[in-house]
Amino acid sequence: MKVGVLSGGGDAPGINAVIRAVVRKGIRNYGYEMIGVLDGWRGLVEGSFTPLNLETISGLLPRGGSILGTSRTNPFKREGDTQKVLDNANKKGIDTVVVIGGDDTLGVALKMGELGLKCVGVPKTIDNDLGLTDYTFGFNTAVHIACEAIDRLHTTAEAHHRVMIIEVMGRYTGWIALEAGIAGGADIVLIPEKPFNIDEICKHIKQRHDRGKAFSLVVVSEGAKPKGAQRIIYGAGSDEFGNPRLGGIGYYVGKEIERCIGIETRVVVLGHLQRGGSPTAFDRVLATRYGIAAIDLVHNNQFGNMVALQGNQIVLVPLKDVIGKRKSVDLGLYEIAKVFSG
Ligand code: F6P
Repeated sequence: MKVGVLSGGGDAPGINAVIRAVVRKGIRNYGYEMIGVLDGWRGLVEGSFTPLNLETISGLLPRGGSILGTSRTNPFKREGDTQKVLDNANKKGIDTVVVIGGDDTLGVALKMGELGLKCVGVPKTIDNDLGLTDYTFGFNTAVHIACEAIDRLHTTAEAHHRVMIIEVMGRYTGWIALEAGIAGGADIVLIPEKPFNIDEICKHIKQRHDRGKAFSLVVVSEGAKPKGAQRIIYGAGSDEFGNPRLGGIGYYVGKEIERCIGIETRVVVLGHLQRGGSPTAFDRVLATRYGIAAIDLVHNNQFGNMVALQGNQIVLVPLKDVIGKRKSVDLGLYEIAKVFSG
């Protein structure tokens, strides 16, 4: 049996730990031949591969990024590309592919499965917005980085009596903002799921300042928006899955606060710092558990499924029940953040 491994979409700390686990158990326990597909689905469209063996996976556990590279290539976007995927897999003798991705990349896995390419999925995204799994790997690391940033911004905000706005990732959901905001003691958390009223935000901050707290911390998801308005798009165009490039809501909020209540504000956009570097211990363990479970799915012929974390158990869920069903934030967590608001 020859097993391909690919990572697609935005990278997330822990991809290499998944690859390591898949390859190690695939070779050592099942005697499979393993092969890496370069740059997500693009590698199968173009036929670019790299060997994966016990040497190539050595030292991978703490490494950020992806040794296979990644891309947002969508083979369903251009006519003929899905056939190229099937032909290249066939030419290379690939029987099945372990696909590490979020909704877009795994959506392709589901549809390619219908065309005859056997796939299993591993849930990856720092946004944590995939359904039927409590956590995607990479999310914990992103929250950790954002929380550390909030802690650092806290001390400088306090020293200068400023309002600090921290814009974090989270295109459609506010998981990172919410968890990092709660962990870092943010005064206001703004998320895509709950459009906000800027006057109310200003009022909260003013009241806080009137009570003698001369600084405030506002955490805002890049996908957050004022009530009745559109999200702020950073650049024109979108990727091959139709996702826009977001960014700039932090500056809007900062300017409005300065304008309404005259308190000096500063804005920090964390951006890709949240995705780079070494995974946390939690993500290393989760990624390893996912990788082991994914190669077990292959061994048991359970194609068309994704591994998932439910409670503390790794389970399998059908890809068709996951794709297109975004997991919004837990509103219980949002209520907790609100207790500390203003
Ligand atoms: O992978 C998810 C994500 O990190 C989103 O939070 C963010 O909007 C997007 O990717 C950024 O993508 P890119 O790396 O293409 O700028």
